[in-house]
Amino acid sequence: MYISVMFVGLFGMFLFAESADPITYLDRHCGADLSKLWLDVIFVVDNSRAVTCMDRVRKSILKIFNNGTIIGTSEDNPRTTRISLVTYNKYAEIIADLNQFESFDDFNKSISINLANSSTLDESYLIKGLESATVVLEKSSLAGERLNYKKVIVIYASLGDDILLAIPLADRLKADGITIIAVAETSGTDTGKLDFWLDLISSGSMSFTIQDEKLVQEIQDSFLQTNCFCPNGWVQLRTSFSDMHSYRYGICLSLSPLTAIWRAARLSCRNQWRNGYLVNEYEANKHNYVLESLRNSSLFRSPYTYYIGLTYSTGSWYWDQPEGSSLRKVDNQQWKNWNPGYPIPSSTQTIGVNVQNVTDESETGWQNENAMGEAHYYVCEVASCDTDNYCETENN
Ligand SMILES: *[C@@H]1O[C@H](CO)[C@@H](O)[C@H](O)[C@H]1NC(C)=O
Ligand SMILES: *[C@@H]1O[C@H](CO)[C@@H](O)[C@H](O)[C@H]1NC(C)=O
Ligand SMILES: *[C@@H]1O[C@H](CO)[C@@H](O)[C@H](O)[C@H]1NC(C)=O
Ligand SMILES: *[C@@H]1O[C@H](CO)[C@@H](O)[C@H](O)[C@H]1NC(C)=O
Ligand SMILES: *[C@@H]1O[C@H](CO)[C@@H](O)[C@H](O)[C@H]1NC(C)=O
Repeated sequence: MYISVMFVGLFGMFLFAESADPITYLDRHCGADLSKLWLDVIFVVDNSRAVTCMDRVRKSILKIFNNGTIIGTSEDNPRTTRISLVTYNKYAEIIADLNQFESFDDFNKSISINLANSSTLDESYLIKGLESATVVLEKSSLAGERLNYKKVIVIYASLGDDILLAIPLADRLKADGITIIAVAETSGTDTGKLDFWLDLISSGSMSFTIQDEKLVQEIQDSFLQTNCFCPNGWVQLRTSFSDMHSYRYGICLSLSPLTAIWRAARLSCRNQWRNGYLVNEYEANKHNYVLESLRNSSLFRSPYTYYIGLTYSTGSWYWDQPEGSSLRKVDNQQWKNWNPGYPIPSSTQTIGVNVQNVTDESETGWQNENAMGEAHYYVCEVASCDTDNYCETENN
């Protein structure tokens, strides 16, 4: 029985491979190398008496960093993660600020002692823990430390006395660009209320429970997403434009409200920031994302017409790529977005532009134009800051 199911499955796969359409290019994903993580992380851990799972808390926290993340600071490697530890119950205590732990062992030693057991105090005030985290952050920021490193607060919370009271402070921290991850410390079954509150406290979908088998991976993935960002003025590609918390790609877009001819636009992308290039559109989602970004900005006027990375050479259309990489053939991708009648065969109309259809304003589609033709808006793209790309300042 199993064998025949497997056989059909394999056979199906071969059929699929045989008849598969051309390969499709993928937009770049965020760097995912935990040994190159560069973040500042504050753990805010409820250790009031009700918490019976300190062992699990401690182990999960250790495992997060057990894939080679470098703890502390280093003179010759900027890709390091600083960790601070705050515990709270009736009172909060800053066990370590961001500059105390200089290695994984340092950190392990501290949590082996400080997170060994829960306290004897019953009350638990998350707001006190969060306030202490704010103190740690302010101290670091006043000292001008690592302003280009994203800040993350990881809360491990039980059903305390005041979780709702902590929401305004959590909102303020999130508005300041700090990511909040929340983990419910609970062994009971009635976790609904705690989960609901922690959803409100955390950023996007970054709310988990200690019971979760994949907890460590979920937190690591949240770290990698947080460590993946664009400099000021660039728009990060996500799976959904309207959902700020949707999955982030490792791609930054820059929409230029100044117009230029195609060649000048391409050169401008090269010069804007680390080897940029004109935007590539492999599938509808990214195309729509770019269009929605333009629509959401008051700097652009419709009907929208903007240069993209399409360029024609020796019989084929190609996508622009970073300086030094070979161009990508458009024929290799399944999804194409030429307006009806395009591309027009021509030896001079060798560059591509997205043009909005005047009768159907919801869409733009590709057209080819004269290489020395009109000036239009243009859109550049470039790889994001992430574990593969360290970014020196907030603005580069
Ligand atoms: C982290 O390490 C664990 C255990 O050593 C391993 O199973 C997991 O695949 C690693 N994760 C990553 C992202 O490297
Ligand atoms: C952390 O420290 C404890 C106690 O000192 C030790 O037993 C354990 O092996 C350490 N864990 C790691 C991953 O180094
Ligand atoms: C933690 O509790 C265990 C048993 O409940 C006890 O043996 C141990 O000494 C305690 N550790 C600390 C650091 O208080
Ligand atoms: C759209 O633009 C407004 C105003 O600049 C901004 O507040 C909002 O975040 C933008 N929406 C998205 C989804 O980026
Ligand atoms: C514009 O949209 C209309 C209606 O959808 C369609 O018939 C027409 O072919 C489109 N024109 C171009 C240039 O895409």
